[in-house]
Amino acid sequence: MINKIHSLGGYIHEYQKSIANPQAFWAQQGESFFWRKRWENVIDWNFDEPSIKWYVNGKLNITENIFERNLYTHGDQEAIIWEPNNPQDESRVLTYAELFSEVNKFANTLRRLGVGKGDRVAIYMPMVPELAIALLACARIGAIHSVVFAGFSANALQERINDASAKVLLTADGGFRGDKVTPLKQIADEALESCSTIETVVVLKRTNSPIEMIVGRDIWWHKAVDGQSDVCPAEIMDSEDPLFILYTSGSTGKPKGIVHTVGGYMVYSAYTFTNVFQYHAGDVYFCTADIGWITGHSYIVYGPLLTGAKTLMFEGVPTWPDAGRFWDIVNKYQVNQFYTAPTAIRALLAKGNEFLENKKLASLKVLGTVGEPINEEAWHWYHDHVGMSQCPIVDTWWQTETGGIMISPLAGITPTKPSFATLPLPGIQPVIVSNEGKELSGNSVEGNLCIKFPWPGMARTIWGDHERFRTTYFSSYSKMYFTGDGVKRDEDGYYRILGRVDDVINVSGHRLGTAEIENAINEHPLVNESAVVGYPHAIKGQGIYAFVVCGELSTGGEEGIRRSIMQGVTKIIGPIARPDLVQLVPGLPKTRSGKIMRRILRKVAEGDASNLGDISTLLDEDVVDQIIEGALVDVKV
Ligand code: PRX
Repeated sequence: MINKIHSLGGYIHEYQKSIANPQAFWAQQGESFFWRKRWENVIDWNFDEPSIKWYVNGKLNITENIFERNLYTHGDQEAIIWEPNNPQDESRVLTYAELFSEVNKFANTLRRLGVGKGDRVAIYMPMVPELAIALLACARIGAIHSVVFAGFSANALQERINDASAKVLLTADGGFRGDKVTPLKQIADEALESCSTIETVVVLKRTNSPIEMIVGRDIWWHKAVDGQSDVCPAEIMDSEDPLFILYTSGSTGKPKGIVHTVGGYMVYSAYTFTNVFQYHAGDVYFCTADIGWITGHSYIVYGPLLTGAKTLMFEGVPTWPDAGRFWDIVNKYQVNQFYTAPTAIRALLAKGNEFLENKKLASLKVLGTVGEPINEEAWHWYHDHVGMSQCPIVDTWWQTETGGIMISPLAGITPTKPSFATLPLPGIQPVIVSNEGKELSGNSVEGNLCIKFPWPGMARTIWGDHERFRTTYFSSYSKMYFTGDGVKRDEDGYYRILGRVDDVINVSGHRLGTAEIENAINEHPLVNESAVVGYPHAIKGQGIYAFVVCGELSTGGEEGIRRSIMQGVTKIIGPIARPDLVQLVPGLPKTRSGKIMRRILRKVAEGDASNLGDISTLLDEDVVDQIIEGALVDVKV
C-alpha cells in the first residue's frame, strides 16, 4: 500500500526524508506497485537537455495496477459511480470487476481496429463512464490517449488531432450539459474535414441526436464492442513510454501537447491522491472536473482507481436543474471528499445560500479546490457553509505539466490559511526566484515559482517539439523547472500562489494563452491587430478583455463587429475563450521598436491607470488616452 501520512510530524518526517534522499523515498513509493520488471535506477535526469527518467527500465502496465493488483481485495467494490446530467435518469455504478471487463472489451475493440502500442487515440466525449473506459482501454494496449475537452470547437479539435497524428477518434452523437445538447459528432465531422490520419471514428450513442455516419470510417461503439472478449492481455510498457498527451495553452503559439509517461505518473498520481485527500477505504470521492482536463485525468481516473477508491463522475453542470445540484449529489451518494474549482464556488455563492439550505452535507470530510487562486470570501463560504466549519480545505496548486498536486495541505493534517496552498508535498522542492534569476531564500519573499528537483509525475516533453519543452520550462532560470506562476512565501513559510506571470490567463480555472485568442480575433476580416489581457472578474476569476484595431466598420457598426469578433473566437477555439469585453481602439500602445506594451493594457483593464509606470519608450501617448477614454470598465486615472 502507498505510504500514508497521518500527522503533521509524519509529514515533516516524510518531507525531510524525500529531500535528503529522493531516490530512496521514491523507490519506497514505487514498491507498492506491481512491476513486470523492477526498475534499475529510480531516476536519471538533467534539466539542461532536459532529460527526465523515472523508474528507469522498469516494465509495467498501469491498468494491471488498477485491476489485477486489486481485484482479489475489492473486485466487487464500486470503482465508478456515475451521476447523469438529468437527475431523473438512472445512475450507473461499475465495480472494479465490471470496469475491468468493460476496459478489456474496449481494449480488444481498439486492437481489432488496428490500434497498437504508441498509436495515438483522440477522445472527444461527454462525461460518461465510457470516457473513463476509453482512457483505460488505451492504457491497457499501450496506445497514447489524447483527450480533447468536449467544449472545444471543431477547429481546436482538428489542430490537436493533427498535431498528434491520431489514428482513431472516439466521440459520441452528442453530449448533455444542463439543458443543452452539444452536437459532438457534427463538430467532429467538421474537424475531420482536414485530418488525414484518422482511420476510424467510434461513436457512442448518448443523446440520440440525428447524425451522419460515414461508411468505412464511422462505427457505432456498441456494435464495435459487441462480441469482444472481456479478457485482454496487458501490453508491457516501459516506465518511460508515453501514457497520454494532453494539450494546454502557453503564452505563445499553438497549444502544447504535454506528454506524461507511465511509471512516474502512476506513482505520483496515486501517492498524491492518497495523501492530499486522506482517502479511507469505503469513502466516496467526488471531483467535479471534466476528464478533458488534467484534474480529471489524475483525480477522477488514475489517482483514485489506482488506490481502489470509489470515484464519482458527474455528467452535468453545477447550476442545472438548479444551483443545489452538487449538494444533491453529495447527499445522494454520501460523498466524503469533494474537489472543485474556485470559479464554481464563486458562482454558487452568488446564487445565495438557499440552495444549500436543507441539504444534507454531513457526510463531507474534506473539501478541495484547484485551478486558480481562491479568494478569501469564496474560501470562507466554502468552509463555513458547505463544510459547516467541520471540513479542512485543501487548496491544491499544480499544473497540467506537473501531472499531480505539488503544493497543498494534507487534509486534516496541515493547518490551513485561507488562500494559501500552504506547503510542498514530499518530494517537491519549490524555490522562489527573482526576475534576475537569484534564488530568494528565507521567508516573506515573493517572486517566480520554480522547482529545482524532478518529481515522478512531471511532464517529459511536448509532443513533437522537445526544444519547445526546453525553452518554455527550463531556459528562464538555469537548472530549474519554471512554472509560469508568481508566488509569495509568507512569514510561516507558507506558499500563496499569485497567478501567472506570463501571457497566460486563467478564466474559470481554464488556462488560455492570450496569443491564441489574439490569433483567433485577427482572423476576422475587418481586424488589423489585437491585444488580449485578463481583468478581474467576480465569478470567472479573470475575464478576457480584447483591444482591437479595425480597418473600417461594417454595416453592423461597432456593436456588430464586437459581436462577430466574439462569435469568431467561439468558433475557432470554443466558448471558453470568448472575450467578455471587446474595445475597438484606434491603435495599440507600442514601443518605438513596435512591441505592444501590454502592461498598459493590463492596467486599463484592471481599472487603474493612475500609475502606468515608465512610458518613455511609448511611441504615441495619445493612443493611451484614447484607450482610457473608451474603456469598457471604469478607469481611475
Ligand atoms: O496559475 C496556476 C493555476 O492554474 C495553472 C495551471 O493550469 P492547468 O495546467 O490548466 O491546470 C489546472 C489544474 C491543475 C497554474 O499555473 N492554478 C492551479 N491551481 C491553483 C492555481 N492557482 C492558484 N491556486 C491553485 N490552487
